[in-house]
Amino acid sequence: MTATLMPGAPVSAAVLADVAQRVARLAARGVTPGLATILVGDDSASEGYIRVKQAKAAELGFASPHHHLSADATQADLVAAIRSFNDDPTVDAMLVQHPIPDHLDFDAALLEMDPDKDVDGLHPVNMGRLALGMPGPVSCTPAGIEALLAHYSIPVSGREVVILGRGTTLGRPLAMLLSQKRPTANAAVTVVHTGVPDWPRYTQRAEIVVAAAGVPGILGPEHIRAGSVVVGGGVRYEGRRLLPDVDERCEDVAGWITPRIGGVGPTTVAMLFRNAIDAAERRGPRA
Ligand SMILES: NC(=O)c1ccc[n+]([C@@H]2O[C@H](COP(=O)([O-])OP(=O)(O)OC[C@H]3O[C@@H](n4cnc5c(N)ncnc54)[C@H](OP(=O)(O)O)[C@@H]3O)[C@@H](O)[C@H]2O)c1
Repeated sequence: MTATLMPGAPVSAAVLADVAQRVARLAARGVTPGLATILVGDDSASEGYIRVKQAKAAELGFASPHHHLSADATQADLVAAIRSFNDDPTVDAMLVQHPIPDHLDFDAALLEMDPDKDVDGLHPVNMGRLALGMPGPVSCTPAGIEALLAHYSIPVSGREVVILGRGTTLGRPLAMLLSQKRPTANAAVTVVHTGVPDWPRYTQRAEIVVAAAGVPGILGPEHIRAGSVVVGGGVRYEGRRLLPDVDERCEDVAGWITPRIGGVGPTTVAMLFRNAIDAAERRGPRA
């Protein structure tokens, strides 16, 4: 391996240390920030993710009220759960664990959420805020990738970033984020997808490549330029096995690369809590 690894853990630790200090400042004013979670069904991986988030919430000093709906819950049940957290003054931020059962409409449910409490930054109002450069929760994985590049002092400003994938949780918001006018962004961003069959032409010339397709092994060593920066965001789960987009042989060509396990993932969780404390601070004093 020639590439230098960029693990997510130090980035996550730095972000969470800042969150913990901000929670303590709120606590000194008698405010406990609240991050609520909604789980539908009994998918064991989703239950595991919720447990991790609740444990981290408790460790950081957040309250974490939770609704667990059964797998046969109706759309009305889901909407009622969201509205109850919208109306709950102890809740600053909330998330619906994805995926939800097929008979439910995630996008329609999201529209019911108070955008100011949307900790995943997925509500159309928050995508609009991101597009306009207005304050608001930014989708966690893109925010984590910007923080990761900044942490490892990877220059982004003025460089070409090619993102493989235009999905709504990763590629599209990341393109908006990294093209913003800010020292840790300010990039020339190109987004490629299935509509660009010769996408390797773009990744081969890029200084920074972000794989965001969810297709195991799609980005191989022949698709990147020697010494480039490679960030693996896309993953697919087969059972408990995690299959990254980035072929491990990229480590022999890249200059910097995220590890196959423990790269972008830990930064995503940290950004969830950063969005939650941002939301709590934005609300100001409680009634
Ligand atoms: N690490 C984390 O914490 C984290 C968090 C969130 C998401 N993710 C992962 O990020 C990935 C992307 O998620 P998402 O929801 O943003 O995306 P998505 O909706 O699944 O979209 C995937 C994108 O990849 C493109 N794509 C798929 N196959 C391709 C191919 N053969 N050639 C070129 N482009 C291809 C698709 O192109 P078209 O648009 O043309 O179909 C699409 O734009 C997923 O693997 C997800 O699991 C990871």
